[in-house]
Amino acid sequence: MKDKIITLGIESSCDETAAAVVLDGRKLLSNIISTQIPIHQKYGGVVPEIASRKHITAIMPVIDEALNEANVKLEDIDEIAVTYGPGLQGALLVGLSAAKALAFATDKPLIGVNHLEGHIFANFLSESSLEPPFVSLVVSGGHTSLVEVEGYNKFSLMGETRDDAAGEAFDKVARVMGLPYPGGPEIDKLAKNGNPMAIDFPKALRNNGDYDFSFSGLKSAVLNYLNQKKLKKEDVNKADVAASFQEAVVEILTEKAMRAMERRRMNTLVLAGGVAANSALGERLKTEAKKRNYRYISPTVALCTDNAAMIACRGYYQARDGRYSDLYLNAEPGLSLVY
Ligand code: KG4
Ligand code: ZN
Repeated sequence: MKDKIITLGIESSCDETAAAVVLDGRKLLSNIISTQIPIHQKYGGVVPEIASRKHITAIMPVIDEALNEANVKLEDIDEIAVTYGPGLQGALLVGLSAAKALAFATDKPLIGVNHLEGHIFANFLSESSLEPPFVSLVVSGGHTSLVEVEGYNKFSLMGETRDDAAGEAFDKVARVMGLPYPGGPEIDKLAKNGNPMAIDFPKALRNNGDYDFSFSGLKSAVLNYLNQKKLKKEDVNKADVAASFQEAVVEILTEKAMRAMERRRMNTLVLAGGVAANSALGERLKTEAKKRNYRYISPTVALCTDNAAMIACRGYYQARDGRYSDLYLNAEPGLSLVY
């Protein structure tokens, strides 16, 4: 095996066009992200057709920039890792087509990567000493899961949301409160000035003993609260609503993550996905982990939300396990984290 392996990562599953170059799976040489957030903001959420079109114009310049910044040429790349799901079909196809074309033209191996596994692997870039086994709490815009990571290529799903994902709940609640897309960071900011104990919002599936989540009831409870206030013509303290809603999410995620750690007798807890950027969630997990003497790891903010570095890192480990893809690889919008 070659001693230095350079992986090009490509990501286009939602509203970020991204490319990155990673050395030996763990060393970040470049991480370029072209975000479409300002474009989708005026619609209050991601418009799939617009996302695909913007990916098409951004993808090649973003890949060129990633290579330039890493100071490598296309010929120096050993393998190409690309997200093939889950995500928006049209958006995924753009990154996938670019990756397949490059792999074909340069005769380099192609590695199809599961975006959710990528989020977990962002932690290997943030924390050089991290090794499996560990429990990972994956909280993104589309998914909320607890995953047991037994090895670099061995995962098992412990539980997941039965309805809305945590990030989706943040975005929907923010939207009805008139906050811009994406709502997660806005609620996070607003909650800093609010009282998390002001309103007792429901914490679903708290005592059912498993690792599943449900956030749609919580979302409805916030909507009902706001509607009631409006009907009664009463003032709403938005900061209190944001803080109390966030508290319900943080509480349930922390409780179930700690339960998973205890029952699986794990020592390391790893946070992943866009909602990992939430300051209250990070603080609570850190505090509760410390109380129990667990090691707690979360990605740097730039690696929490969608990026291609995490895809390159995941692809690197997948390739060492011999799991390459052929050029017939297709987008799988509904790909899950089930093994
Ligand atoms: O992982 P990600 O970038 O995309 C998906 O794979 O879904 O996650 C995006 C989600 C959005 O729902 C966004 O509102 C949420 O992550 N998010 C946050 C924060 N930053 C991003 N949620 C809560 N607090 C934040 N600071
Ligand atoms: Zn993501």
